[in-house]
Amino acid sequence: MLSTVLVAILSIIAMIKTEEYGIFFEIEENSFLFDEDAIWNGKVDCLFSCSRMCARETLCKSASFLENEGTCSLHRETRTMHPDRLLQQQGSIYVEKVVSAKTPISLGTTQSSAVPSCQALLSQSPLPSSGVYWINPDGGSQANAFKAYCDMETDGGGWTLVWSYTFTNYGDFMDKSNAITPRPNWPVNSRNANVRISTTVPLKETDYNAMNFSQWKQLGRQVLIKSNINNWLVCHPGTGSLVDWQQGDVSCQIVKRVTDTCKERPAPSTFAPSRYGPVFSTNKLYYYFDGYTKSNWPVHDPCGENDGNHVTNVVNPHGNIFIR
Ligand SMILES: *[C@@H]1O[C@H](CO)[C@@H](O)[C@H](O)[C@H]1NC(C)=O
Repeated sequence: MLSTVLVAILSIIAMIKTEEYGIFFEIEENSFLFDEDAIWNGKVDCLFSCSRMCARETLCKSASFLENEGTCSLHRETRTMHPDRLLQQQGSIYVEKVVSAKTPISLGTTQSSAVPSCQALLSQSPLPSSGVYWINPDGGSQANAFKAYCDMETDGGGWTLVWSYTFTNYGDFMDKSNAITPRPNWPVNSRNANVRISTTVPLKETDYNAMNFSQWKQLGRQVLIKSNINNWLVCHPGTGSLVDWQQGDVSCQIVKRVTDTCKERPAPSTFAPSRYGPVFSTNKLYYYFDGYTKSNWPVHDPCGENDGNHVTNVVNPHGNIFIR
């Protein structure tokens, strides 16, 4: 006699313990397998312990639990292989292992399986590749989940792309007409940042758009800055934090060198929201996200000298910000 209630409970327990495979148990009450060649015999506190041991033991194909004695036997064989050895006894329980194929749980691949952020994908095994996934940063109903691009490689992965930008005058980089574009709807006065504002989630690194800035902090507080004209940085918040729009110290590391210029220079250590856009600096500027075409220019200086040391003559010059 099969008990479906017990089957359901046991399958949940076994699923937690096995990452790649779903293990289920068919249950036959008041039966046990007579087995003189058991893998293991011993005392257990309940049926769950017995079936869990069988789930973890690859050789185990079935198990018998004798309720009255509190004993468990793990078998290499099943009742199908030896129907004559399946004996009836009140209070005994025979369970048979059913291993399903790889579980089809692929988080973030559908709206209903949306994850809070790309960071949640790090729990998946094998690690998902970089690409577009469904996310639901506010954690509420999946109805407002949306697609976002995840970098699953840089510095351990788990990064959600929140902004892809290019420049208004890359060719004359240090001219005041040059600015990043578009800009996020961060709290810079529109009089001081006149480029297009985007609140459309970018789906790739050359999709020049930005996620609504007020959602960035729902994704995390670490910042990854990538660009094809300056070194890549990962910055951990200190007293300063980009997503909180808070001036202060940050702890940055260069995670990829795009240029050999100024190889000995450390990464910046301060974040500041400034008049035309935010800044990463140490005394002088490394990254300046200037969004104004009538003053200043968008520094991308690997030397941190507020100078024109960025890589020149690049096709599709751009940059990206990711949050984790
Ligand atoms: C950005 O998000 C905030 C908070 O969720 C919301 O109030 C605002 O309307 C959004 N802005 C845009 C332009 O979507």
